Amino acid sequence: MAKPAVLVTGGLGYIGSHACVALAEAGYRPVIVDNLGNAKASVLERIRELTQSDISFHRADVRERQALGALLARERVQAVLHFAGWKAVGESVEKPVMYYENNVGGTIALLAAMAEHGVRRLVFSSSATVYGEPERLPLTEDHPLRPVNPYAKNKLVIEHILADCAVADAGFHYAALRYFNPIGAHPSARLGEDPRGVPNNLLPYVAQVAVGRRPSLRVWGRDYATPDGTGVRDYIHVMDLAQGHVAALAYLERRARSITANLGTGRGYSVLEVVSAFERASGKSIPLEFHPRRAGDVAQSYADASFAARELGWRARLGLEAMCRDAWRWQSGNPEGYPD
Ligand code: NAD
Ligand code: UD1
Repeated sequence: MAKPAVLVTGGLGYIGSHACVALAEAGYRPVIVDNLGNAKASVLERIRELTQSDISFHRADVRERQALGALLARERVQAVLHFAGWKAVGESVEKPVMYYENNVGGTIALLAAMAEHGVRRLVFSSSATVYGEPERLPLTEDHPLRPVNPYAKNKLVIEHILADCAVADAGFHYAALRYFNPIGAHPSARLGEDPRGVPNNLLPYVAQVAVGRRPSLRVWGRDYATPDGTGVRDYIHVMDLAQGHVAALAYLERRARSITANLGTGRGYSVLEVVSAFERASGKSIPLEFHPRRAGDVAQSYADASFAARELGWRARLGLEAMCRDAWRWQSGNPEGYPD
């Protein structure tokens, strides 16, 4: 029997590329669409190498509705994992229209193409950023939603659009997955996170210090109400996250209903704890500089991960040690990231 085809938008990106490998291992046939706006073409070769299969790739923009529709039909797509979008918070504040256009506009074009071609299952990359400043911890899915920047508002608007689509079409089902902080890499070190320019996020920055690309880590704030004064986050291994998508697809097939769920480990670590774990994993020392708090940061954010465990039958398995080990393997094996 032919393997069910799953369209993966943004499939050459950090999380999408790992999800393609997990999908192939679970018996699906990933079909990738990416406009290469934030990815390199060489990622495709790595995915093909790891999956030992000629994964199909289409360089296209999800906003090209007609092209997308033709692809859904030609590839007999059964379901979609939708990763494509821009994700830099600071840039979204400077260029809100560009963010709404790509993130919200891209999702609308995709949904229209799916409706036209009878594709009625979608897994969407949402984010824990939709909660805004936590009022209580751990964050449960019913926590108030008060996003504080355009990127976060994009995610919430899309969640609302998906809910409306599910009301309008009883046969349409989606999973909105609110990721916490994905880090780490494929254990083979063939796939990993390769940000352009200066990394905004903690782990890629630490990894670049360890490999000698940057002199020291700037720690944003040591006066938070946390045990060591630095920010606490729920880091999740990207391979666990990828498995969460396979579980969500299975849920949509099995239960035929929509779901919005946190994907995190339920455990928070401070910046200093992450740095120590990375030093142990890499055998390198990470020089630190302490700076004032970064605008828009919260003291602590971590998931209540029990809903996903109960409903999706999924939970994160890999701990901080494995996350740092795999991030280091990736960074040390590919010091300049993917080849051009
Ligand atoms: P990424 O930038 O590595 O991947 C996104 C991919 O989408 C890129 O390959 C890019 O080229 C592609 N893309 C962007 N716009 C497109 C368009 N219009 N048409 C086709 N392709 C397009 O980002 P990522 O870290 O893999 O994140 C994937 C998704 O998960 C994003 O939607 C992001 O907002 C969300 N998310 C990420 C994180 C995180 O920490 N990385 C956390 C929460 C949510
Ligand atoms: C950031 C985004 C969030 C987005 C997420 C995606 C902001 C304000 N928030 O989350 O919306 O969903 O990325 O992964 O941009 N840190 C340092 N030095 C650094 C980098 C980070 O000390 O060079 C600290 C931060 O202050 C924070 C922690 O490390 O306490 C994690 O930061 P980061 O990896 O950027 O993730 P978030 O801030 O959680």
